[in-house]
Amino acid sequence: MGQETSPPPVTVIGLGPMGRALAAAFLAAGHPTTVWNRTAGKAGELIAGGATWADGPLAALGASDVAIVCVIDADAVDVILDRALTESGRHGLPATTLVNLTSEGPRRTRELATRAERLGVAYLDGSIMTPAAAIGTEATRILYSGPADLFGRHRETLAALGGTAVHLGADPGRAASFDVALLNLFWSSITGLMHSFALAARQHVPATALAPHAQQMAQLVADLLPGLASEIDAGGFSGEASSSLTSIAASLDHIVHALEEAEVPSAVTRAAKEVVDAAVSAGHGADSPTRLAEFLGRDRAGGRPPAQDTGRTAVGQAPSAGDRVP
Ligand SMILES: NC(=O)c1ccc[n+]([C@@H]2O[C@H](COP(=O)([O-])OP(=O)(O)OC[C@H]3O[C@@H](n4cnc5c(N)ncnc54)[C@H](OP(=O)(O)O)[C@@H]3O)[C@@H](O)[C@H]2O)c1
Repeated sequence: MGQETSPPPVTVIGLGPMGRALAAAFLAAGHPTTVWNRTAGKAGELIAGGATWADGPLAALGASDVAIVCVIDADAVDVILDRALTESGRHGLPATTLVNLTSEGPRRTRELATRAERLGVAYLDGSIMTPAAAIGTEATRILYSGPADLFGRHRETLAALGGTAVHLGADPGRAASFDVALLNLFWSSITGLMHSFALAARQHVPATALAPHAQQMAQLVADLLPGLASEIDAGGFSGEASSSLTSIAASLDHIVHALEEAEVPSAVTRAAKEVVDAAVSAGHGADSPTRLAEFLGRDRAGGRPPAQDTGRTAVGQAPSAGDRVP
């Protein structure tokens, strides 16, 4: 008979809506949970629920083998690491695993991973694809990247967050690459939807009247998506079976006119039309919309690889000198 092991201790640093949800899920799954946040007042409910307050970032990192950090951006993570280093008298940080669930771009994420590793902290990155309310439920979806053995070692602990955890590869910036692409899709869809509601409202069409039709349109996009992706990866851009870019340019043109007639700002739609027009001018008028993915993604930096590996230095950070520990 296998022996039951009790859930290992976990630390959560950052208690915004998401950090609080993460800490609550660990508590609910029975993990001894240590928390720290820049503003102490946000920990009240968690402490009442059994969490332990750490006196500072250093104590928080030292309290568990795995420390989740979930704050506003990578610069805030740097500030927290700086503070922990200062608290240590610049003697170094505990050899914990830092699981960074803060949203950030891929380049900045790789910089953080490099910094953490230089400080002797193992680093796993994660991008949370669902809202705080979903944490701890089946709906949670978190994309991870970083060393596979690290993910394997902490997988069971991270399962307390619920739902699906996907490891995308060893490059710590890979989850962030997915995150920014998916959030670009999400927020351009949401802003596009609001734009459409505004246009409809100016023509006395309430949002709820448009909604079922908008839902079918969104479903059409979802249904088309896998086929479009396959076409892009196969490098096939024929417009024979779909709308051509010339036809799409005409369609966008009449939408821009309708927006202008309704006195709704048209800049976003005009920007989309400019992209289509540029692709048509480059000789792709007969191609399908998948051509836009190739056209927009072209190397415009004169043969240099996409900017991903050289990074800006974090605000207030002097990487080589600041992180030197005895
Ligand atoms: N909320 C969601 O539904 C959701 C969904 C997916 C992903 N995310 C991601 O999760 C992360 C956290 O989001 P959130 O909703 O919890 O709130 P947030 O407003 O993005 O972040 C708030 C947290 O960041 C801390 N913070 C900000 N500046 C700091 C600094 N300079 N030094 C130390 N700590 C600092 C705040 O501390 P104080 O309390 O002291 O201000 C607080 O703990 C973000 O990257 C967000 O994009 C959130």
